[in-house]
Amino acid sequence: MKAAAILLAAGRGERLGAGHPKALITVWGKSLLAHVLDTVAAVPEIEGFVVTAPPGREEEITRAVGAAAGCIAVVTGGETRQASVRHGLAALPPEYDTVVCHDVARPLATPELFRAVLARLEEADGVVPVVPIPDTVKRLEMGRVRRTIPRKGLAAAQTPQAFRREALEEAHEAARATGAAATDDAALLERGRYRLVAVRGETDNVKVTRPEDVGYAEMMLERRARGGG
Ligand code: CTP
Ligand code: MG
Repeated sequence: MKAAAILLAAGRGERLGAGHPKALITVWGKSLLAHVLDTVAAVPEIEGFVVTAPPGREEEITRAVGAAAGCIAVVTGGETRQASVRHGLAALPPEYDTVVCHDVARPLATPELFRAVLARLEEADGVVPVVPIPDTVKRLEMGRVRRTIPRKGLAAAQTPQAFRREALEEAHEAARATGAAATDDAALLERGRYRLVAVRGETDNVKVTRPEDVGYAEMMLERRARGGG
């Protein structure tokens, strides 16, 4: 196995509304991107990484990556996350047979979670960290509550997600050909005959999406920095 990470940082951060790339906002002393770079550096199995940058922001992202060991490329992201992953894949040298896709918006994912998803690839084409959904989930139609989706058997998916490169590339190619769209990579493999397995995610591995998430991420990072786990 030779593994690379695709670090997705090309979003517009519209829901956060920071006015500049979300990956570069400072949370507990450094940017979201810097947190993720430090985490990836602590995963010995990951030998290189590609970062996707918002169009026009490549230089800022490149500066933020700095001299981090293992940087293969900073590439321009696409219009969607899915397109950004495709651009990242295209920049990966052929010797990488394993790919971990991770949202830079998730600064709390631990090196242990990266190692856990990679370890399970022995028996799968893709590995997804999941956590239980604490809320009762409703199907809505035109603003009306229609029914309750049984929570048993439902889970919320996180990143990092690990894949055999061949399967990930095939799934993205098939999606492109059919116009299928998805908000994570596993969803594209679900459409094909791939072996996808779940591992236990981390409940504090939140995706910094809205302004209030920043405070939560800050609190959790501070707690960890103080050795509180
Ligand atoms: N992402 C990306 N390319 C895109 C869209 C998203 O690389 N075209 C990345 C984001 O940078 C983020 C991750 O995918 O790390 C998850 O996306 P999300 O949390 O939705 O971030 P944004 O798209 O930046 O936020 P928003 O949807 O609020 O604009
Ligand atoms: Mg988005």
